[in-house]
Amino acid sequence: MFLCYYKHMKKYQVGELFAGIGGIGLGFQGAGFELAWANEIDEKACITYANNFSHLLINKDMTEVDPNELPKIDVLTGGFPCQAFSIAGYRKGFKDDRGNLFFDILRYIDILQPKVVFLENVKNLTAHDNGRTFNVIQKELTKAGYYIKSNVLNTAQYSDVPQNRERIYIVCFKSKEQADKFKFPQPVNKVRSIRSLLDTNVSNEYSYKNSKYYEQLKSEMTNPNTIYQWRRIYVRENKNNLCPTLTANMGTGGHNVPLVMDKDDIRKLTPRECARFQGFPDNYKLPDNLPKSALYKQIGNSVSVPVIKAIAKNIMQVLEECE
Ligand SMILES: C[S@@+](CC[C@H](N)C(=O)[O-])C[C@H]1O[C@@H](n2cnc3c(N)ncnc32)[C@H](O)[C@@H]1O
Repeated sequence: MFLCYYKHMKKYQVGELFAGIGGIGLGFQGAGFELAWANEIDEKACITYANNFSHLLINKDMTEVDPNELPKIDVLTGGFPCQAFSIAGYRKGFKDDRGNLFFDILRYIDILQPKVVFLENVKNLTAHDNGRTFNVIQKELTKAGYYIKSNVLNTAQYSDVPQNRERIYIVCFKSKEQADKFKFPQPVNKVRSIRSLLDTNVSNEYSYKNSKYYEQLKSEMTNPNTIYQWRRIYVRENKNNLCPTLTANMGTGGHNVPLVMDKDDIRKLTPRECARFQGFPDNYKLPDNLPKSALYKQIGNSVSVPVIKAIAKNIMQVLEECE
């Protein structure tokens, strides 16, 4: 009893910026952290978030929140909007308002002084503007008093989830000793099969039977064990038996949701299957009252939960060892 109480007291508190549907929070929770609060501007993402977590959720533009009014935390997380840095966002970087949100993260850090800052972004962040963008990020975090470790990890190598998703993870410690001790997780290199994540008896609403591309898809999609993508005029097979990187544009309609063969049909992945390809457990709720397009967007915007959990476990280990 005493031990449980002590253990509870030891939990480190996390604040989530750009929380989306809470993939980063879920990973930290799985590693033994306690979530104190989350901030997210998008109302629909907040609906999904609130269906799954009960701590304080502030549905507001983060630039309008006063961090002085937020509960104290040990870890600040932020998968800050990647559009400003990714190729898809036309490489505008800090010239794009969404890129400037990074400077607002610094405002939170300055006031909250967390022991750890955890940031996630697209792999291209390091190459953006010939490395200048990432240099600024590192310089600013160092100026704020943090020691930085960063690495690009692919979900398919660092978890058993078969998704090809390369993301940069930036882990910053206030203590040099902790930063020196922290190590990124080792590769797992043992992914589950794509089939094991797919449902049988999926509703007709996901079928491509009535699509004008059906005949072409039918003739080119021959492998039931992999995933395909419709690319304007051709069908792309993912030869490595991994799901391609799931992105927010799955929610914009068109043909952006990956395709699979299903018995005698061709269909797109369901939101639940996409959530599995991000490593969300099946008890994570996807609200029925949201349009499917919103769910696809939210899941594409999110993270691979088991990768976050593996990194968060190593952060927890360092925090416990050094305090
Ligand atoms: C890349 S997504 C992060 C998703 C999150 N890691 C998850 O697991 O779902 C970025 C999120 O930042 C949110 N966002 C963008 N600008 C914001 C702002 N000014 N204030 C608060 N949230 C913002 C977006 O709505 C989006 O959900």
